[in-house]
Amino acid sequence: MTNAFDPLEKSTHKSNDKLPQTEANGMQKGLTSYGDKDFSLFLRKAFIKGAGYTDKALDRPVIGIANTGSAYNPCHGNAPQLIDAVKRGVMLAGGLPMDFPTISIHESFAAPTSMYLRNLMSMDTEEMLRAQPMDAVVLIGGCDKTVPAQLMGAASAGLPAIQLITGSMLTGSHRSERVGACTDCRRYWAKFRANEIDEQEKDEVNNQLVASVGTCAVMGTASTMACIAEALGMTVPGGASPPAVTAERIRIAEETGTRAVQMARDGLTIDKILTPAAFENAIRVLLAIGGSTNGIVHLAAIAGRVGLDIDMDALDRMGRQTPVLLDLKPSGQHYMEDFHHAGGMATLLRELKPLLNLDAMTVTGRTLGEELATQGPGFAQDVVRPISNPIYPQGGIAVLRGNLAPGGAIIKQAAADARLIEHEGRAVVFNNAADLALRIDSEDLEVMPDDVLVLKNIGPKGAPGMPEAGYLPIPIKLARAGVKDMVRISDGRMSGTAYGTIVLHVTPESAIGGPLAYVQTGDRIRLSVSKREISLLVSEEELTQRQRNMPVAHPVADRGYHKLFLQTVNQADQGADFDFLRASEAKGKTPRV
Ligand code: FES
Repeated sequence: MTNAFDPLEKSTHKSNDKLPQTEANGMQKGLTSYGDKDFSLFLRKAFIKGAGYTDKALDRPVIGIANTGSAYNPCHGNAPQLIDAVKRGVMLAGGLPMDFPTISIHESFAAPTSMYLRNLMSMDTEEMLRAQPMDAVVLIGGCDKTVPAQLMGAASAGLPAIQLITGSMLTGSHRSERVGACTDCRRYWAKFRANEIDEQEKDEVNNQLVASVGTCAVMGTASTMACIAEALGMTVPGGASPPAVTAERIRIAEETGTRAVQMARDGLTIDKILTPAAFENAIRVLLAIGGSTNGIVHLAAIAGRVGLDIDMDALDRMGRQTPVLLDLKPSGQHYMEDFHHAGGMATLLRELKPLLNLDAMTVTGRTLGEELATQGPGFAQDVVRPISNPIYPQGGIAVLRGNLAPGGAIIKQAAADARLIEHEGRAVVFNNAADLALRIDSEDLEVMPDDVLVLKNIGPKGAPGMPEAGYLPIPIKLARAGVKDMVRISDGRMSGTAYGTIVLHVTPESAIGGPLAYVQTGDRIRLSVSKREISLLVSEEELTQRQRNMPVAHPVADRGYHKLFLQTVNQADQGADFDFLRASEAKGKTPRV
C-alpha cells in the first residue's frame, strides 16, 4: 500500500527544530523530590549513565515508548520488533527513545475479564507518563482493552502522544477453509456443541484459528479500536490495518517513532487531537465499519477523560445517516488483512469523506483532510463498498430505550438475524453467569426458539467488570435442533467477534437495581429495532411491587482494587470508567448531529 506520509517532512504545525532544554523538557522534566533540584538532576544523570548513555544523548528530546509486550499477550507478540523500529525512527529524527513497561492485558488471559483491568491499565499508563521524564510518548497497543486504556491514560496525562497498533494476525486454513480468530472460534465451537464436528476436528481447528502473533483477524474490538485510533487522528496515516508480521507494520513503527519526535518539538499535545470533531469522525467510522459494540463503551471512556459525554441519542441519529461499508467478519465475509490489501483506512475514509470533519488535527500536524488529499486514488477492490452501494444502509449499531433500559441499551443490528429484530417473546431468565452455566444446557430447561434469553448481573458492578458474556449460547437442545439465533438481553458486553440478535449494555444494570433486576421467567419482552424500543410488558404497578419485595443489595468488596472498582465504576453510557478519572471540567457532548 502506498503511504504518502513522510515523517521527516516538516508538518504545517508550528515547529521548533530543537527542543529547549529546560526543567519542562527532556531529562530535566519531572525531577524526583530530594529537596534540591540540581542534586536530583545530578543523581538522575549518574544513574542513566550507568546504562552507558552520554551527555550528548541525554540532551535530546526524550520519547517514551510504552512497552506492552508480555508472554501472556500473544496479540502483542511482535512488541520487540516494533520497539526496535520505533527506536530507529526516534534516533533518525534526533530523539532519545526510552522504552518502559506497563500493564498488558490479553482477552483470554485475564480473569474475571479484561475489562475489569482496563481502568487499572489506564491509571498505570497515565501515572508512568506523568512520573517519568518524556517529551512525547509512543503507545504500543493492540489487544482489545489496551488501546482504549492507553488513550484514556494519555488523554489524562496530556503529553504529545501517538498510538502504534500491533496489527492483526494472519488467517489460517482448516481443511482448505480460511479461518481466523475469533469469529471462526465461535462458529466452530457452536458446530461442536451442535454435534456437527467431532472432538478430533475441534482439536485440529484449534491449531489453525490463530495463525500468527497479532490481534484478532476480524472486525472485533481490537480492529475496531485500531480503526477508531486512526479516525481520531492518533496514528500515522495507514496505521490501523497492516498485519502484525508484515514489513509495512515495521515501517509504520519507524514512522511513528520519527513522528513522535516532531510532535515533541511542535508541542502537539493530545488535547489538540482529541477534539469533538475527532470523536465525531471516530463514531462515524465505528458505524461505517460495523464495528464492535465495545467501541462505544471505550469511546465514552476516552471522551470522558477530555470532558466530553457521548450523546447516545445523537449517536443513534448518526447511525441512521451512516451506511455500513466494510465487508468484514463477523457481519461480512472478509478478514482484516483483506481490508489492508484493499487500501485500509484510506479507502474507507475516501468513501466517507462527505460525512467527516476534514479539519480535525492528526498526529502528523496536518488535518485529516490534508492527509486524505495526499493519498493516491482508489482502486478496484471488494472489501470496502462505495457509499452509493453499502452493505447495510444504516450504521451497524442502534441505541434502544424503554422501561427495561431507561439509560439505554444497544444492539449490533448489522450482526442480528433480520427475522428477530422486531420480536416479542417470553423471557427465560438467568440470575447470573453461574446460573447460566448451570442451566443453559440442561434437558430440563423449558425454552423455545421464540423465547428471549435474559442474563442479569453481568454489568460494570455486577460481574464485576462487565464481561463479554452477553453472547449467551443457544441452549444445547435448541442448537442441536438447528436453532442458530435467539433474542438475548443482558447488562454485559459482547465480543466484537460475536454475532446474533443480542441486546447489550442495558443501563442501569441489574446489580444496582435497574429494571432488568426485576424481570422474571414468563414475562413478555418486546424488541423493536425500527422503533428503537426494548420493553418489559409488565405493568408499572407490578414492577413497583417487585422492587419493594426484592430490594437489590449492591455488590461490595472488603479491600484492594476490587473495592475501588465497585465503589467508583460508572455505568456503560459513561464508558465504565472510574468516576474520579473523568475530567473534572465538563466540555459538552459528542456527536453534535
Ligand atoms: Fe487480543 Fe482478540 S484476543 S485481539
